[in-house]
Formats: sequence, structure tokens, C-alpha cells
Amino acid sequence: MSKITYDSDTSRATPTPVPGKRVTAPAILAHKAGGTTAEPIVMLTAYTMRMAQLLDPHCDMLLVGDSLGQVIYGLPSTIPVSLEMMCAHGAAVVRGSWHALVAVDMPFGSYEGSPEQAFASAARVMKESGCAAVKLEGGEAMAPTIRFLTERGIPVIGHVGLTPQAVNMLGGYGARGRGKAEADKILADAKAVDQAGAFCIVVEGVLEDIATQVTRNVSAPVIGIGASADCDGQVLVTEDMLGLFERTPRFVKRYDDLATRIGDAAATYAAEVRSRAFPTADQTYRPKG
Ligand code: KIV
Repeated sequence: MSKITYDSDTSRATPTPVPGKRVTAPAILAHKAGGTTAEPIVMLTAYTMRMAQLLDPHCDMLLVGDSLGQVIYGLPSTIPVSLEMMCAHGAAVVRGSWHALVAVDMPFGSYEGSPEQAFASAARVMKESGCAAVKLEGGEAMAPTIRFLTERGIPVIGHVGLTPQAVNMLGGYGARGRGKAEADKILADAKAVDQAGAFCIVVEGVLEDIATQVTRNVSAPVIGIGASADCDGQVLVTEDMLGLFERTPRFVKRYDDLATRIGDAAATYAAEVRSRAFPTADQTYRPKG
């Protein structure tokens, strides 16, 4: 990956992006040549401007996932997430990035009704956020919609396997594909999404062998989460991998323990405020001269 620098001097809220070309959907598709991907694709979720700034130099794609429902809004699932939320957070992430392709999740209820409904929702997300792609959940049933969108200029990321928006049908968030019929269905779903024109496919929460089979049998790059190291790329929810929650799913590797570090910093701050150790002369304004 080329080295990227950025100027954050101008303003905390409106950084000046280094002029350059973002990663594009065709460039992601081209990662997988002749059925294999030499260097795995790096994707993380981002919901805010500042997190996007920090992650952008290291990622090929930033996903404004509807997982923001739980991570940012404390909702019990992704079901209540609205188009307005996705547009607002999508715009913030686009403002905080200049290198990675930004993809925004289509929330539950905004695309399943018809291809026309999906087009209207996706067009709104793209216009209001400035993102370059959308992601939607579902396999064979969503293939006609994915074709409809891609033929009209909207790059689409598919999402098969464990599809959290279907939690009420699935009965929970456990790994999928433990039986042969379910495993066959996940492979058929991935193939349908691939043939419909998705430029990459997220495969979530499936037995490792299924993820490997999917990766070998579709032409689009497969981005795994709780899937397999054989996938063409990986995605994680950033707050999970930073250790911001006490409980993380089995497939998450914690690269930090931010919950402890933030708690410690807050405790030190609270103690210093209560003992009047903060602020000191260094943090107070005095007459000049
Ligand atoms: O919403 C999300 O964050 C996602 C990823 C977990 C793939 O869909």
C-alpha cells in the first residue's frame, strides 16, 4: 500500500484531504485475479469522522455498518437502524477519509420490498453521504435487486451466511452452515450474488470450510468475518478489535484493550478534578505579557 500522509492542522472537524484517488469498486474486484488474491483486502467498520481519519491510511475499504445500531446507539439489534442514521454517519466517514472506498450498509426495510425501493434508498445514501458503494444482506432472493442496482451505476457489496438483519428468522447470531442443506444454501447464495454483479461479498459467521468453498467458487473477492483465513480479505467491527466491549465474539481478535485504558484515564481525571490537581497553570489562561 502506498504511504499516505494527511494534514490535520487545519481543523479538527474538517481535515484537508491529500488530493488523490480513492480505491474504487473495480480496483477491489481486480484484487482477485484468476480466482486468487495475492494480498488480502483490509476492511474495518467506521461510523465517525475521527475514526475514519485514523483507520483510512490502513484500509482498502471502510464500512459504515448498520452495526452502528448496537455500537453507537445501544440498540438491541440492527433492525431499528434508519436510512437517516446511515446517511449521517456515512457522510461523516466520507469527510474523514480520502483513500479507502467507503461503503454504507442499507438498513433493514430500506431495500427488500423491490428493486425500485432499493434503488431509491441506495441513491439517497450515495447522494447524502458521498459514499462509493452500498452493502445489502441476502443471497438468491436479493440477486435480482443487486443486478438492478449494479446495472444502474450503484456498486454493491453482498452479505451472506449470518445476516444479522434476519436475526428474527435465524433465532440468534450463532455460526451458520452446520447442516449440509444450510451449507449448500450459503454457497448458492454467494454464487447468486456474485453472478448478479456484486463487486465483493461479505461472508459472516460460517463454518470455515464453507467460507473456503465460497471463496474458491465466486469471482468477486470474499471478505470474511468469522469465516476463514482463506478469504480474499477480512473485516471486523473496529470497536470489537480495539477491545471497547467486555464481551467479544469468538472470531474477534482484540488488538487493544481500550475499555480498560479509557476507564483508567477517566478514573485519573475524576480523581484529579476532585483533588483540584486538574487544571494546573499549564491548562489555564493568564493575562499576556
Ligand atoms: O454492520 C456491520 O458492521 C457489518 C459487518 C460486521 C460486516 O455488516
